[in-house]
Amino acid sequence: MESGWTWSYQGYDPQTERLRETLCALGNGYFVTRGAAAEVSAGPLHYPGTYAAGCYNRLTSTVAGRQVENEDMVNLPNWLPLRYRICPSDAPPGPWLSPDHPQLTEHRQTLDLRHGTLTRWSTYEDGDGRRLRVKQTRLVHMGDPHLAALRALFTADGWSGEVEVATGIDGDVRNGGVTRYQDLASRHLCGWDSGSEPDDGVRSDGGTAPGGGSGQADTVWLSCRTLDSDVRVALAARIRVGPGRGAPPRATERTARRVCQRLRLPILGTGSTVVVDKTVALHTSRDPAIGSPVHAAVEGALTAPDFPQLLASHRAAWEHLWQRADLEVPGEAGEILRLHLFHVLQTLSPHTAELDVGVPARGLHGEAYRGHVFWDELFVLPFLNLHLPEVSRALLDYRHRRLPAACRAAQEAGRAGAMYPWQSGSDGREETQQLHLNPRSGHWLPDHSRLQHHVGSAVAYNVWQYCQASGDTEFLYGHGAEMVLGIARFWADSAVWDPGIGRYRIRGVVGPDEYHDGYPGAAEPGLDDNAYTNVTAAWVLMRALDLCRALPETCHWELGDEEMARWDDIAHRLYVPYHQGVISQFAGYPELAELDWAEYRRRYGDIRRLDRILEAEGDTVNRYQASKQADVLMLGYLFSPNELSEVFRQLGYALDDDIWRRTVEYYLARTSHGSTLSALVHAWVLARVRHDDAWSYCEEALTGDVADLQGGTTTEGIHLGAMAGTLDLVQRGMTGLETRDDALWLAPAPLPQLSKFAVRIRYRRHWDIGLALRAERVRVAVPDGGNGPVRVRLGGRTFTVVPGATRWLGLPATHPDDTGP
Ligand code: BGC
Repeated sequence: MESGWTWSYQGYDPQTERLRETLCALGNGYFVTRGAAAEVSAGPLHYPGTYAAGCYNRLTSTVAGRQVENEDMVNLPNWLPLRYRICPSDAPPGPWLSPDHPQLTEHRQTLDLRHGTLTRWSTYEDGDGRRLRVKQTRLVHMGDPHLAALRALFTADGWSGEVEVATGIDGDVRNGGVTRYQDLASRHLCGWDSGSEPDDGVRSDGGTAPGGGSGQADTVWLSCRTLDSDVRVALAARIRVGPGRGAPPRATERTARRVCQRLRLPILGTGSTVVVDKTVALHTSRDPAIGSPVHAAVEGALTAPDFPQLLASHRAAWEHLWQRADLEVPGEAGEILRLHLFHVLQTLSPHTAELDVGVPARGLHGEAYRGHVFWDELFVLPFLNLHLPEVSRALLDYRHRRLPAACRAAQEAGRAGAMYPWQSGSDGREETQQLHLNPRSGHWLPDHSRLQHHVGSAVAYNVWQYCQASGDTEFLYGHGAEMVLGIARFWADSAVWDPGIGRYRIRGVVGPDEYHDGYPGAAEPGLDDNAYTNVTAAWVLMRALDLCRALPETCHWELGDEEMARWDDIAHRLYVPYHQGVISQFAGYPELAELDWAEYRRRYGDIRRLDRILEAEGDTVNRYQASKQADVLMLGYLFSPNELSEVFRQLGYALDDDIWRRTVEYYLARTSHGSTLSALVHAWVLARVRHDDAWSYCEEALTGDVADLQGGTTTEGIHLGAMAGTLDLVQRGMTGLETRDDALWLAPAPLPQLSKFAVRIRYRRHWDIGLALRAERVRVAVPDGGNGPVRVRLGGRTFTVVPGATRWLGLPATHPDDTGP
């Protein structure tokens, strides 16, 4: 297999199996299945999970004497189960085998990133020298989003007889993937039903079965529904055995929540191989163009092509997708980046464009954060904009459909405009849990993170970025404008004039650093004048005004001159606190105590979750100048240095290189990096001010998931924001790429370790612009075609690259030099 395109594990390690399950998950944007072995069921070592994008359910639980409601992305019936055992002709049947069985002598697995398959090889040997080699290959089809398949090959060594196989669909599942949630209600499914269908052309709908039916029921199905949201779910599995085997005896077994087929496959001595193909179709009642999920699933499984054809069309779909999104970075960093890209594309694929879903913070790979949608799309859409803009647009439409809910939330809070929820799920209401568990102390604590109203600015920022990159003015002046104006109106209504300081203030919020949710000893949660919140609010107000000026007739929000004048005033006079020549994270931050970082590191080693450590000590992180993640520094992530200075200038503040440098140093020394997003943002920001340290943050961002740096959290799902963010760190961070004023702006600041790479982007009508960085030069290649020249701005100069041309441009730090095509 090609190097750089596989992700492999040698040997079986039960302790890291759950992590491997997450990293080897397969999906297609419609659904994802964790990379759990087909032989196992959920338990301490294993957690098979299948999640369909946007499929949520709400349950009520009692914790700490309170009734709390949570909406979760639902773990759907497991389609993987496939168990087997050796039935020698001269001895009684052996035990059911699995990687946990002591008879396992060899095990390895490989994820083929180019073609989206997971293959496991295992060998078992019993005490009498009988060996069974098993090779299993699975896929979740990238072309037909409802299909998945598993092929198992059994090869005998030193015996003959039969292999007994039991395979089917297990509906007896619950959401049990996150230990912290174990006290919460977790049974989301009910109303199970199951059945089987013959493969002999006598199907109930009168259709004919492909591939010459065996005459026996070879397709089983299971249906159920979610308890509260009433989503009906159906899976069907067609089970066929290898060619030339005739029709081995098989029996269908049904219990209340499971359906299974048992087969006995003759195996004729050493070297003899039998093949079992399981082809699965999954549908829910959220799907368009179906009659019922059961009919669609059964039909899908019965009519699916055989495994080889299915594999071929799946591989072709992946090849096509890679053409739209590949990133070539040499070395180990490149291998991890490709794995990240693979998981981003499995969570948000072209199929996502057909769905009503947002960006799930933990992918569709596990149950952490309940599949909710946070501000993390801020780290994902800028990457997608330049590859799959139709997916970005669909993700923004998820937000647009929930604009009325955001307006209702603002109204209930006594505000105007749109207040987007910190955590969003099915219908756009606030889904942040009321209580969260500190696993260190066992205490259930109030969760005030819902005060992170800055999520609204993230939505507005993404609208703007998407439209700049895609040139989609229809969206900008339609759905996009409605959101930006609603968010701007919320900020304007939140800003209160303080005559004492002669500025507007936004009070009672929580910034991206979630550690601080209130002032020490204060009766009410919330902080005042969070710099990140205020600066982004000012930016949103300016963009909203730009929109109104550009196309006033689309402003169905009936914005009068007076309101516009107020927005303009606020956008120029929002308060940003400073202390000691640095930007303060919020008003009062400098009065907080300094933490003895060295002492806490000495005592606890890993202090990423300092909030939990301090709470368990009976203290609170609110008392200290200690942040979970980048907060003020997020401004350097969102805005280019010039744009950031411009926003500050507009607000009447100075922000020169010295102030920014000091601000970066200040918070660097006071951040525990308790979120995977933190290392990413620090790498991005430091790349422009402190090269040497940037790489160590970059390494942390790269290894966050593959090495599970946050201690067990990747087992509960990938960190999609950090994964996509690392891709964007190369794509935009290292190149300084911006798409504005109808030009590609480049300001490369490559790290020595990331100074050679190539990326292909889609920019407006140009599908495949090549950007490559090599030894102080950047190459821009525009494909042939009738889409006109591309304007490139670099080092204060404008270059034009015509279709079919490639230009090498010298980086401004060296001698600006246009070497021409
Ligand atoms: C981070 C948030 C993030 C959330 C979901 C939290 O740990 O603090 O910024 O949105 O995870 O990824």
